[in-house]
Amino acid sequence: MTYNYSERMAKMNGAATREILKLLTRPEIISFAGGFPATQCLPQKEVQQIAFELLSEGRATEALQYGTTEGFKSLREQLIEYVKTAGIENQTLENTLVISGGQQGIDLMSKVFLDKGDCVLVENPTYLTALQIFDSYQAKIVGVDADHNGLIIDDLEKKIKKYNPKFLYCVSTFSNPTGKTYSVENRKKIAEITAKYNVMVLEDDPYSKLRFEGTPVPSIKSFDKAGNVVYLTSFSKVLSPGLRVGVAIGNPEVIRKMTIGKQGVDVTTSNLSQLIVAEYLKRGYIFKNIEKSLPIYRERKNAMIAALNKYMPEEYKYVNAEGGLFIWGEFDAPINTVELAPEAIKHDVAYIQGQVFYADGSGLNTMRLNFSNATVDRIDAGIHRLGDMFKTEIAKLKK
Ligand SMILES: Cc1ncc(COP(=O)(O)O)c(C=O)c1O
Repeated sequence: MTYNYSERMAKMNGAATREILKLLTRPEIISFAGGFPATQCLPQKEVQQIAFELLSEGRATEALQYGTTEGFKSLREQLIEYVKTAGIENQTLENTLVISGGQQGIDLMSKVFLDKGDCVLVENPTYLTALQIFDSYQAKIVGVDADHNGLIIDDLEKKIKKYNPKFLYCVSTFSNPTGKTYSVENRKKIAEITAKYNVMVLEDDPYSKLRFEGTPVPSIKSFDKAGNVVYLTSFSKVLSPGLRVGVAIGNPEVIRKMTIGKQGVDVTTSNLSQLIVAEYLKRGYIFKNIEKSLPIYRERKNAMIAALNKYMPEEYKYVNAEGGLFIWGEFDAPINTVELAPEAIKHDVAYIQGQVFYADGSGLNTMRLNFSNATVDRIDAGIHRLGDMFKTEIAKLKK
């Protein structure tokens, strides 16, 4: 049989990281590769109790039936309250679509706006799976330069003028992969300049609630006067990725188009999951769970920073994130983290090579480390192994 695949599959050869992730089931491997929440931060007891109550009460039918594509009104009302914590005020049900995780929001935005060859601007580097989604819509992906304050506004404007993009995609707070957060001033400028040129923004925010240090910043969406920003957040990192619940907030016309797009994908986000999240929010559990999780993440992040300082060669420079799940770093030396990833596995430790997060395939000397899913002892042991490996490689370069 010859399989005549669609053209869109041509660029989609799967995650470069898949081979590494496959190996991670081996318990001896210390993994800094994924982006999983810590297991003890998944509120098993509360979710079990809520699910039991939902299925025992008269609401079982509601939970087990089909539902509307927009999502339950009761959940959307809770979500309108929830996004106020990101500075997003005055939203209505028409602005609010329940999605099956943030990832679905990226896909729906692409479905609604992208034709083959259309341009999407992204921060260089950005979330790997977003790049894969844009590829699946055969978009032209162009990276915008960034520094510690956020996007370089001159570069953003230059690229808007040059490429006439449909939208800008960004992870503005505790970015995946860099852990960086855009400044308030940068957010205002992004909102202004994209509105001026009639460019949409897809602001992806799965991490802002995981802040262990510093002061919270309002979302780009909170500065949106033109209705050009679609804001995504999800309960994957603060409650459970297994429930697959998130929300898209945007202009009603755009949300309507995304709803039509969603109809053909999954009809509706799981009713049971939606009702669990609605109840979880209603009972005020979400901020309690975040409060409980933050010290665990803070301790693990600090353990990773301490280990990096102790074991890594001096050529390694890292970004000390104030929240989120990742430490991003690069080498001031021609270290190729793509070639060395399999070597690290031989030492029973895994990281993600930074190159996969660059739209232009650069970043060969960069590396993303996840700290949320390993204990403090394993973080120390794993970074020790990595440090030894990179020191050996740097010694070879100096010969
Ligand atoms: C930046 C970013 N966006 C979206 C997602 C997808 O999350 P979910 O679909 O589980 O909400 C992730 C997951 O790691 C992420 O890092």
